[in-house]
Amino acid sequence: PAPAYATRTIALVGLMGAGKSTVGRRLAHRLGRTFYDSDQEIEKAAGLSVADIFSLHGEADFRRGEQQVLKRLLAEEPHVLATGGGAYLNEETRTLLREKAVTIWLNADLETLWRRVQKKSTRPLLRRDDAKSVLANLFVEREPIYSQADLVVDSKDGPHGTTVNAILKAL
Ligand code: S3P
Repeated sequence: PAPAYATRTIALVGLMGAGKSTVGRRLAHRLGRTFYDSDQEIEKAAGLSVADIFSLHGEADFRRGEQQVLKRLLAEEPHVLATGGGAYLNEETRTLLREKAVTIWLNADLETLWRRVQKKSTRPLLRRDDAKSVLANLFVEREPIYSQADLVVDSKDGPHGTTVNAILKAL
């Protein structure tokens, strides 16, 4: 029989640095599916980087754009979707994701997330001196929401293939 996710999009949720984009792209490749990254789709639609949207238009505008983009993507054929770290917090988006997708919380401990996000300094929420405590706060605040995802998979250090395999096993 076809697996339960066959007719559904697989959406990765979780904090910045969880590996949603990297793991998502590889998972899509393994499943022969299209891969979408919501941040990238917002950038394409706006013709601006996420950082510029935040600084020129503010976070609230970014969130509105994010919601629109996710609505559009979730109307498409089943694919693999990496959501931005804040997308799942929006109740309407969460409801839509629940309806249309199998949601997977890619989880990692704070130190791992912190190490990873430092490699890419473009995240507007973390462009400040106390970025680590910002991330720590987001971790505490968002955990109860991310944990509403259908599945939880550990985003371990080392080859991303390990995490992809863990997802395929959990599905
Ligand atoms: C955000 C996460 C980012 C991006 C934006 C806000 C968040 O995506 O959408 O900077 O609120 O956690 P990644 O999780 O892909 O870094």
